[in-house]
Amino acid sequence: MAVRAASVTAGELGWDATWTDGFDGSGRDRTPTIPSHEFSGVVADRGDAVTEWQRGDEVYGLIPFTRDGAAAEYVTLPAGLAAAKPPSLTHEQAAAVPLAALTAWQALVDHAHLRAGRRVLVHGGAGGVGSFVVQIAAALGADVAATVGPDDLDFVRSLGAATAIDHVHQRFEDLIDPVDVVVDLVGGPAPARSWDVLAPGGVLVGIAAPPDPLEAERRDVRAVFFVVRPDRTGLESITRLIEDGRLMPAVDRVLPLAEGRAAYEALEREHRRGKVVLRIGG
Ligand SMILES: NC(=O)c1ccc[n+]([C@@H]2O[C@H](COP(=O)([O-])OP(=O)(O)OC[C@H]3O[C@@H](n4cnc5c(N)ncnc54)[C@H](OP(=O)(O)O)[C@@H]3O)[C@@H](O)[C@H]2O)c1
Repeated sequence: MAVRAASVTAGELGWDATWTDGFDGSGRDRTPTIPSHEFSGVVADRGDAVTEWQRGDEVYGLIPFTRDGAAAEYVTLPAGLAAAKPPSLTHEQAAAVPLAALTAWQALVDHAHLRAGRRVLVHGGAGGVGSFVVQIAAALGADVAATVGPDDLDFVRSLGAATAIDHVHQRFEDLIDPVDVVVDLVGGPAPARSWDVLAPGGVLVGIAAPPDPLEAERRDVRAVFFVVRPDRTGLESITRLIEDGRLMPAVDRVLPLAEGRAAYEALEREHRRGKVVLRIGG
């Protein structure tokens, strides 16, 4: 695959799978490692057994975390994990989608079993993953509330949040009715404070950190933590939402690959809306 663009994700340089071939740090050291596992690019070559892609096809996808990532001019991945790039997006926009949108899709659809009319609270709704959670939940017919920084209230409303809450100056507990689903992208005290706004039978999906399973059991709700997995079928559902005009990646900035270090530093130090993307080759 000739990579045209790849995105970086908050925290990824701290994940065990970035440095070893296991998720719990027990795997073999695989340094030097290439980070950034979501990409958009062009098929440069294919294995003899691969029939579905031709050279020149535009594809995008999420690369398994225990393989080298896409912050490089070329990357290899199993053919079944690539999906056709949404035609309406540039490579830079498309590269902002796979990891973040699949995390949002798997949280809402696979783990929370979200249905139209349900109420969802998203902590961190303006970030790389949160901007997809808000849009996908709204596209699935949910009533969405999101906590964000004070500068992002209008932004998250524009994504489809009916209720935008400033996490610095407001307490979400005081502002919303009980919800069926909480998706937590920030960790810290937010998930523990969320049990009180979860309706009976509800689910707290932790993406930044695992929620407490004992507290969930005590309150008769579900607690879920998961690591996003490559999934072409899910990505194709996401592509359809994009092409229907119901989902749009939020790209905060695009940097050349040579400024990859600055891209990761921006994740740690700077306020952002949506994803930081690396432009590669082309
Ligand atoms: N489990 C998985 O498979 C998986 C997959 C993807 C990501 N993740 C993890 O999920 C987390 C989020 O990733 P991301 O890419 O969305 O990060 P991100 O782009 O940094 O977004 C985080 C957002 O949360 C906001 N925020 C910070 N503290 C907050 C608070 N107390 N209340 C409400 N909003 C707050 C930030 O605003 P400011 O910019 O104003 O601080 C930012 O908009 C990271 O920890 C990442 O490692 C896990």
